[in-house]
Amino acid sequence: MPSKKPDILTASIEITRLRHRIAEHNQRYYQDDAPSISDAAYDALVRELAALEALYPQLADPDSPTRTVGAKPAKGFGKVSHSVPMLSLDNAFTEQDITDFIHRIRRFLSLPDDTPVAMVAEPKIDGLSASLRYERGMLVQAATRGDGSTGEDITANIKTLACIPQQLQSSGWPETLDIRGEVFMTRTDFAALNQQQAAAGLPVFANPRNAAAGSLRQLDASITASRPLQFYAYSLGMVSKPFCTTQIEMLQQFQTWGLPTAKYNLLDAENAIISYYNYIYKNRADIPFDIDGMVYKVNRFDWQQRLGFVSRSPRWAIAHKFPAEQAVTILRDIVIQVGRTGALTPVAILEPVTVGGVVVERATLHNEDEISRKDIRIGDHVTLERAGDVIPKITGVLLEKRQSGGVPFLFPATCPACDTPASRIAGDAIRRCVNTLNCSAQAIERIKHFVSRNAFDIDSIGDKQIQRFFDDGLVRNPADLFTLEQRQQAGEIDLLSRDGWGKLSAEKLFANINARRTIPLERFLFALGIRQIGETTAKLLARRYGSLSALCTAMAQATDPNSDAYKELNAIDGIGVSMANDLVAFFNKSHNKKTLDTLASILTLESPAGIISSDSVIAGKTVVFTGTLARMSRAEAKATAERLGAKVAGSISGNTDYLIAGSDAGSKLKKAGELGVTVLSEDDWISLVKADTPDSKNSPAQPALFSE
Ligand code: IVH
Repeated sequence: MPSKKPDILTASIEITRLRHRIAEHNQRYYQDDAPSISDAAYDALVRELAALEALYPQLADPDSPTRTVGAKPAKGFGKVSHSVPMLSLDNAFTEQDITDFIHRIRRFLSLPDDTPVAMVAEPKIDGLSASLRYERGMLVQAATRGDGSTGEDITANIKTLACIPQQLQSSGWPETLDIRGEVFMTRTDFAALNQQQAAAGLPVFANPRNAAAGSLRQLDASITASRPLQFYAYSLGMVSKPFCTTQIEMLQQFQTWGLPTAKYNLLDAENAIISYYNYIYKNRADIPFDIDGMVYKVNRFDWQQRLGFVSRSPRWAIAHKFPAEQAVTILRDIVIQVGRTGALTPVAILEPVTVGGVVVERATLHNEDEISRKDIRIGDHVTLERAGDVIPKITGVLLEKRQSGGVPFLFPATCPACDTPASRIAGDAIRRCVNTLNCSAQAIERIKHFVSRNAFDIDSIGDKQIQRFFDDGLVRNPADLFTLEQRQQAGEIDLLSRDGWGKLSAEKLFANINARRTIPLERFLFALGIRQIGETTAKLLARRYGSLSALCTAMAQATDPNSDAYKELNAIDGIGVSMANDLVAFFNKSHNKKTLDTLASILTLESPAGIISSDSVIAGKTVVFTGTLARMSRAEAKATAERLGAKVAGSISGNTDYLIAGSDAGSKLKKAGELGVTVLSEDDWISLVKADTPDSKNSPAQPALFSE
């Protein structure tokens, strides 16, 4: 620590340098188990940093090593791969959404309108989910959800929770059993913990959910043991032998085994579900823990099994969320963000305000029409709301509080990053910068998207570093990431001399990038950042086309809207005309073709075929349904075919393997005859797939592996 008080600029540079050095030592100590300095020397660095931060509190940062303990704990946990993926729930916000949910179920199962669909209603606990593995009744492993496929090993931590039995009580448990549920903290325990933290000069938690997460994910399980955590069980993962046929029986069985559950209710009329929801919403203050809605689950397991999953959520359950929390604050400024597809999004810069336990400083204003419709002006008092993890949004203006002098907001007609005129196509609420090729903001956003968690998951480079790499010409497009190491070794660039980079962090970045040279096709397609193409669609495309070259060929053919290729693209369940057009446009632009060629030469793309149940008789086959099916809905037939690895097409072609013809089949049946395609009746079809469908009577619904 220099004896003279450093000026703020010097202090800021020194603070950055120290934080970086300490982070590197943390990495060596906590993750590599190979410290390179003594504990005393390490402590001296932390003291030096703390002293500088104390001199200039405005330079404080909640992520500073003076405020966090050690390296990010997430890195210190072992990995656990979930035998059955841990999925999430679709959200419903209105009564209509619930009506639609129940109708969808009836339609899918081909049930008459008056058939009751019994649902179990449970609170949606605002905590974090965990999966507990019991072997012969003994708790042997526990894991967090992680990305749904792989979580963190928190066995030692979970074993400190008094409410979780180490040995299941009673009897009758399957040999291998995954119990899933929520770890949470009650509001009273949370308040007491925060008081304790504050008294000890330690940081306080923003809300009970954060407190539960922070307490559970501790490398030192004795800290978890000292925290008042609770657990409620609500579902199953891997089960070696079925033990019940309904959700209610399962919850009752959990209790017999000594596993706590939340209060649940079996309801079969829609109005009963809605009144129960309203009752719980009104009385939620009496529930000792935070809940952010209700969850409804189809009670019968055989129905759950048939309903299956769409992408990451079951068709047989839904989360009915409570209305978002509201707050009022002052709109300080409106800035325009340029997205990776050129969309100009207005962002509100707010006087910080707490909503639902979290401080909000920025919120979305959606688009220019929204701003003019509501006449939102800088300086206004605005209402905002925040629901769960959703980005906060501005919902209105308090006109009575408007000071004189405010002027209507003028939405820019040009891109704030590249100054190119931004245009709006009729029917599109969004103004876009059309300079796809040369707009730096779009290029940077594309790289950020490319490295993001659900895409290439290259987490050793942050947004600010991407910006600097771009500005300095080191990485102008995603492909440049893969030549960084080579350029460093050849002396063409010098990462180590750059602010914030050291030998360790650079090596970590290279290792992280190299580990992604082989990547599943669907992740790759998602990473491209094509307009409207999210993870779900990327997965559909990967499964339908199997390889990048097949997809590129099909997209080239699909430029003709009368082609089979275009029709097949549109026939994919989940892809509409507008998406199809965006896809065809993307794959046929010459600069995109060039990028794809470059990336394809660097990367190994794993086709999803390997994980589709390849042992099923229809795996890899192309099937077409026509006519009216009597024993199941078209949606169920289609979902079953896809679960077993078949491609479902909308029209007959030379590539079709089977036409499944229900009653009143028309032109497709005729065409199949002409092309010599095998025609199956509905009964033939059912016996063909039956062999591959698990015994659906008593087993809990499990997602097919390829749905993750
Ligand atoms: S069932 C396949 N039941 O909500 C369905 N989830 O948005 C698995 N959650 O990740 C989830 N209370 O962390 C289920 N009674 C409840 C729940 C619940 C809270 C959480 C859980 C899950 C998330 C999905």
